[in-house]
Amino acid sequence: MAQNTLIVSNWKMNLNLISAKKLISKLRSLKISKNIKNIICPQYLLIPHVRKLIKNSQIILGAQDCHFEEQGSFTGDSSISLIRENGCKYVIIGHSERREFHKEENLDVKKKIKTAIKNYVIPIVCVGEPSLIRQNNSYLKFICNQIEECIPKKLEKLTIAYEPIWAIGSGLTPTIDDIIEVKECCVDFLKKTKKIKDIKFLYGGSVNSKNFFEIRNECKIDGALIGGASLIEKEITNILKGDF
Ligand code: PGA
Repeated sequence: MAQNTLIVSNWKMNLNLISAKKLISKLRSLKISKNIKNIICPQYLLIPHVRKLIKNSQIILGAQDCHFEEQGSFTGDSSISLIRENGCKYVIIGHSERREFHKEENLDVKKKIKTAIKNYVIPIVCVGEPSLIRQNNSYLKFICNQIEECIPKKLEKLTIAYEPIWAIGSGLTPTIDDIIEVKECCVDFLKKTKKIKDIKFLYGGSVNSKNFFEIRNECKIDGALIGGASLIEKEITNILKGDF
């Protein structure tokens, strides 16, 4: 049987109650392969609503971030226990927008991964280089350093998303060979230094219904983290309805 493919919709700070309801009703009516994990990560206040809307469907709920502490004086943050109580099975951790706008460091990411796992929520850990690092050819070193500092030891499994920062929302994507190179480097590094055997590798950054299948098939990735295209009904439904 084919491996599961993870299609992770990162809605970021988009959609409201009405537009989320409309999109979910379209997604619910799709007949999609059993091999797809259709994971939707809405902003926090939408989570309880989306949870009701996806009841008895194949859609899985995720969050876009969590705090590394389980509770406490952290104004504006959300705890992993509340995220789990609200039905989230996954949480995106270390997205470049969190790193850039909230000054999250690799050490914060590591603590968040530990907190998520301890609370039975599966982390989807983002890594990826900015454009200058790509241009000066030090991207593999940069990504390995992110992995070294972010990923705790003794994990049995890991879902990692390679998202080059210059590809996010830009319409640019790395070549197939570029993605394969990073994938092989990450998997090798994770196996050697962190002794993780079960690794799911996702790609994210300007994924759409036109480039997804080529990237998936040629790079043999386990899925995609999708921002902009996940908000457009035709785009996300064409991806989900594809040949898996
Ligand atoms: P994008 O975003 O698909 O709009 O490039 C991806 C992401 O930031 O996760």
